[in-house]
This record gives sequence, C-alpha cells and structure tokens, in this order.
Amino acid sequence: MNIVAAPIAESPFAPAVAWMPPARTPRRRELTIGVIGPGRVGGALLEQLRAAQPRLERAMGLVLRLRGIVASRQMWLDSDDPELNARQDGAQTWRPNDLDGFAAHVRCDNARHALLVDCSASEEVASRYPGWLAAGIHVVTPNKLAGSGPLARWQAIHAACGGGNARFRQEATVCAGLPVLQTLRDLLDTGDELIDIEGMFSGTLAWLCNRHDGRQPFSALLREALALGYTEPDPRADLSGTDVARKLVILAREAGLALSLEDVLVESLVPPTLSELPLEACMERLHELDAPLAAKLAEARAGGGVLRHVGRLDRDGRTSVRLKVLPPGHAFAHTRLTDNVVQFHTARYRDNPLQVQGPGAGPAVTAAGVFADLLRIAEALEARP
Ligand SMILES: NC(=O)c1ccc[n+]([C@@H]2O[C@H](COP(=O)([O-])OP(=O)(O)OC[C@H]3O[C@@H](n4cnc5c(N)ncnc54)[C@H](OP(=O)(O)O)[C@@H]3O)[C@@H](O)[C@H]2O)c1
Repeated sequence: MNIVAAPIAESPFAPAVAWMPPARTPRRRELTIGVIGPGRVGGALLEQLRAAQPRLERAMGLVLRLRGIVASRQMWLDSDDPELNARQDGAQTWRPNDLDGFAAHVRCDNARHALLVDCSASEEVASRYPGWLAAGIHVVTPNKLAGSGPLARWQAIHAACGGGNARFRQEATVCAGLPVLQTLRDLLDTGDELIDIEGMFSGTLAWLCNRHDGRQPFSALLREALALGYTEPDPRADLSGTDVARKLVILAREAGLALSLEDVLVESLVPPTLSELPLEACMERLHELDAPLAAKLAEARAGGGVLRHVGRLDRDGRTSVRLKVLPPGHAFAHTRLTDNVVQFHTARYRDNPLQVQGPGAGPAVTAAGVFADLLRIAEALEARP
C-alpha cells in the first residue's frame, strides 16, 4: 500500500464548492509552547504555527501560546505577550541561554499544559528530556540524539512518560514529515506483527544511487549533490551511514526492541584513508571513492541488478545499513530525486508490503512533521474549565 496524494477527480455535474463542517462549539484547550532552536526547521515551524493559529482556534478550540524561543546563546521570553512587549516599548528582550530557566518559564504556574519543541541538534538539550517530562512538560523533537542515543536515557524518557501525563513524540526524526513512526505504531497497536522494515532512509544516498550509472565518476556526482545542498557540509556524514543507523535505532526502539547504535551493522562508504582527514584534504581526495564504487556498480550490473543504499531492521533486532543489489523491478529502483521510501513487512502486509514514500528532508516538511506531533498531543488535552 502506498500513502500518496492522489488528484481529486473533477465532478462533471457541479462546480466545486468549499465544504464547511457543520457549526459546533469546540471545547477550548490551551497549550503553552517553547521553541528551542529557531534555525531552519524551528524557523519554518514558527511560521507554520503563526499561520495555523486562527484556524486551529476556530476549528478545534485550540490556543497555542508561544512563551519563548531559545537559541544556542540567547533566549527570548514571553515572545508573544503584547503586554510585556508594550512595557519594553515593543522591543524584543533577549537574555543569555538558560535551558532550565527557559523550561520553568514555559511551564509557568498557570499553564496546565506546556510543551517544549526541540529543533536543535544539541546533546545538551536532549539530555534534559527526562527531567522535563518528569516535570509534566511534553516534548516534541526532530532531534535524533535522544531516540538513538544512550539506551539508559531512552529508558528514562519512557519511565518519565509512564510515571506522569507528559508525552514524548519524535516523528520527524525518521524521514522528516513522512508518517513512518506513526505507521509503525498504528500497525503494532492494532495487533499486527512486525517481520521487517526496509528502506532508503537517506535522501542524499538515494539521489547518488539513482544517478550513479557509470557515465560520471562517483566523486563528480558527490560534488554535484554538495552544490545542490543535498549533502551535509561534510559529505562523509552522509556516506558513513551513521545517520541511517540512527533512524533504524529509533524505529527499533519504537517497536519495543532495546537496540543501540553499536548494534547496527554499518557498511560505511568512506574508505579509512579519508575518514580521519580534515574536510579540505578529504574534498581534494574524493576521487578515491570512484574505483570501489565503480566496482560495486559493475558487480550489480553483472547480476542484472541496480545498486541502492538500504537500511534494514528485522523483528529479532538484526539491523544493517549497506549498499544492496536489487532487481530492476524493485520499488527502491524507481524513486525520484532525494525521495525516501520505507517498506513494512508484517503479518498483515506479508506479500505486498505497506510502503511510505516521499521527500524525507527539508525544513518545511520536517517542521510539518513536528507540528503534526504537537497536534496529536493537543488533541488529547483536557478542556480548560
Ligand atoms: N533540516 C532538515 O531537513 C532536517 C530533517 C530531519 C531532521 N532534522 C533535525 O532537525 C534539527 C534542526 O535542524 P536544522 O536544519 O533546523 O538545524 P539548524 O538550522 O542548524 O538549527 C539549529 C538550531 O538549534 C539551536 N541550538 C543549538 N544548540 C542549542 C542549545 N544548546 N540550546 C538552544 N538552541 C540551540 C541553534 O541556535 P543558533 O541559531 O544560535 O545557532 C539553531 O537555532 C536537527 O536535529 C536535525 O537533525 C532536520
């Protein structure tokens, strides 16, 4: 099964009219929010929150109160408080970064429901999740460090959620806005049994594999991907497979398997001669990637297959990240550009896997994945008396 957006067929009988739900009075709920990391994803999220607020209030009775924003060095409290802004003559009041003070401010006394969104890639922030959750603050994040970091911290996050009412969600850590973790959770919650999950979890490597047909050396394609902004500034971060390994650990843990990064068998595409070099020196020697990757391509072609970068997790917790030779008719051989694709083989989807596919990176889609998590938490809030 594919989750894809299909065009709506035009009716031959009547002009299209906007459908309005019947009028009802939604129960009023309020969620106080603090955004950590107003970078690319955090910035896009702030825009999306602002644009959606009137509709959410009208349709769902949901009021989202932005209480603060914190970046690596500074924080801005009461950022949408008109009274405070008026007192400050409209000026934005920045203070030095203080994560504990920030959380306490967002969790102000009259906030029944508080939520922190971590849009940083910071270990310092991720290490605070258990404490925040234990204090009753919900946490939503696209930051992979908690979901794939030390197992003890992950267990502490679970324990903190289990011991109180706070919830932790991290949909956007795996394939950004694509509903990958939610699909897994729905399958398991409804009693399906996982057999394995297989996917192309790296948009960069999907693009490189799609384009690597032998007409250009691999290093030339890599430079093109870098120029297009498809790779990390240091492309070894993509080629090493670690980012995909983190996503597999997150999926495994969501499936109830106690896995850590060290348990994932990762076949790095970075030769040892390049792995320790400073970035500049490495970029000058990228041609060292060409021969091994040309050999892998030739091997795939000799068997009539195509080469794809695949992450795999099975129900026993066996996980791998590597280049794989697939038959030319395989779904992974026909993705577009930097698309991610994930297949779930389960007892119900045994012969024909459930498949989720689409762009798996970019600030707007990642922020939308974060926003969807926030709304799922908001849906479960009790109404304000
Ligand atoms: N971009 C994507 O397509 C994508 C896709 C999936 C997941 N993600 C994940 O989303 C997260 C954000 O990515 P991004 O591309 O938006 O990164 P980014 O543009 O580099 O933004 C990171 C933000 O985090 C802030 N920050 C860093 N350390 C902090 C700290 N200790 N306390 C508070 N704020 C701190 C930075 O502050 P300064 O502004 O002061 O530097 C910056 O605002 C990352 O975890 C990334 O892995 C991104």
